[in-house]
Amino acid sequence: MDTKKVILTGDRPTGPLHLGHYVGSLQKRVELQHTYDTYILIADMQALTDNADNPDRVRSNILEVALDYLSAGLDPGISGIVIQSLVPELAELTMYYLNLVTVARLQRNPTVKAEMKQRDFGANVPAGFLIYPVSQAADITAFKADLVPVGEDQIPMIEQTREIVQSFNRMYGPVLVEPQALISKVRRLPGTDGQNKMSKSLGNTIFLSDPTDVVAGKVRNMYTDPRHVHAKDPGTVEGNPVFSYLEAFDPDTEEVKAMEEAYRRGGLGDVKVKSRLIEVLEAFLGPLRKRRTEFAKDPAGVMRILMEGTRKGRTAAAQTLTSVRAAMHLDY
Ligand code: TRP
Repeated sequence: MDTKKVILTGDRPTGPLHLGHYVGSLQKRVELQHTYDTYILIADMQALTDNADNPDRVRSNILEVALDYLSAGLDPGISGIVIQSLVPELAELTMYYLNLVTVARLQRNPTVKAEMKQRDFGANVPAGFLIYPVSQAADITAFKADLVPVGEDQIPMIEQTREIVQSFNRMYGPVLVEPQALISKVRRLPGTDGQNKMSKSLGNTIFLSDPTDVVAGKVRNMYTDPRHVHAKDPGTVEGNPVFSYLEAFDPDTEEVKAMEEAYRRGGLGDVKVKSRLIEVLEAFLGPLRKRRTEFAKDPAGVMRILMEGTRKGRTAAAQTLTSVRAAMHLDY
């Protein structure tokens, strides 16, 4: 019997993935896929909860995100990449779980609260948006995930999933697996503007799919210490994204340390540090770009990979749904 633990995680296909996604989660997934049964969900239904008026945005990003996964090293031979909307069992599970959650509890979910504010929904929150944590609980439990590798902002989702699992198992019998969040320990990669978070809407990202000259341009325009006007001036490393990126991507940690000391002391110019970062990112992104080009040549082949992953995922979800229905005495 296969006793490997199961991992499930996913992304909303609303845009291409960037270096922050890589450092925060992709890298970890690529590593973990060898130890765990891994499912990666392209969460198009969840993406629609605030993109109902723009389904083409979601549609066009399915292939983009799949290419990001494959180029980052997710191996479709061992990891199942699943298109959420092609697993209708998830929607059915969501309906059953909704009865185990109160509206007040949904309104208290801090991540959803923050997102609602960000999106300025006011009183016009789409009901689907408010309940997406429940649909996420369906995602997680359908695959019987033990571990959910996510960023910190997703902790409330896992918390809410655990509550749903506990209610369900108490009410209907021990059917669902209680998942645990696997929070990546790496520090969050700041945006190229030095802002706390890389985000597409802030325009401060470097995408995994950016070509060489675009990456170089973005690095040259990167925020650094504004008081470090001349190379000879002492500079600040903390909060300086150029160094955060070097720390994340330069394999020569000794050299990075030496550069940081020189920068602090004064005598190391931004142009030099940025040139190094351009080289380092090129060395990292080069192989990704190569794999991407290969896969992108054959979009039908990528779709086949997604269909195969989805088929595998759907089999697992259907099994869970059968036990859920039986536990709820819906096995007519
Ligand atoms: N909410 C996640 C995000 O915004 C995406 C997601 C959907 C997810 N379903 C999931 C993550 C299940 C982990 C497990 O990035």
